[in-house]
Amino acid sequence: MSKTLIVFGTRFGATHRSSEVIAKVLKEKFNHEVELVKLSSKTENIELSNFENVIVGTSIAYFSWTKRVKKFLKNDFSGKKLFVFISSAALTYAALEKGEMEKYEKHKKRFLDNVVKKNANVQPTSTAVFGGWIRKGKTEEFSLFNWKEKDMIKWANEIGKLTS
Ligand SMILES: Cc1cc2nc3c(=O)[nH]c(=O)nc-3n(C[C@H](O)[C@H](O)[C@H](O)COP(=O)(O)O)c2cc1C
Repeated sequence: MSKTLIVFGTRFGATHRSSEVIAKVLKEKFNHEVELVKLSSKTENIELSNFENVIVGTSIAYFSWTKRVKKFLKNDFSGKKLFVFISSAALTYAALEKGEMEKYEKHKKRFLDNVVKKNANVQPTSTAVFGGWIRKGKTEEFSLFNWKEKDMIKWANEIGKLTS
């Protein structure tokens, strides 16, 4: 049975929901043992030696990763399969949705590929860009909502195949 750690940082909740969808697919369809950890000031040291696969997800807001996830990337992932995703609703994913591929590649490089290259000691086996949401002030209404569960399900299936 594959042991998989999912570590994420979120500001508005989308990365949490995405992580839960990925966990469900890996558990139910691929029989992974999954531990889901939201990084916070209370997160104790995570024992990475327990896991063969590590999935790292971060919210992108104010053009940046959540700082704890960025720091987590500096762990030693030697001998493990690393997977990384970002929730970049307003820029990267929005460009993909509009088919603006040059813009998408530019943002993906800046907000995903280059950050991983600079901070992680192993090349990810696979990466993904997801949407998210922006609420209208403190209301329940959205000014932007492009979070699509099917995107996470698709990527989780890819991860399942790459780890079995
Ligand atoms: C104040 C604010 C700043 C944001 N900045 C960015 C940004 O720089 N780039 C981007 O792609 N999306 C941006 N977004 C959209 C986020 O990607 C979206 O809210 C996503 O759901 C964030 O992930 P989270 O819900 O896990 O925090 C921003 C949203 C807010 C509310």
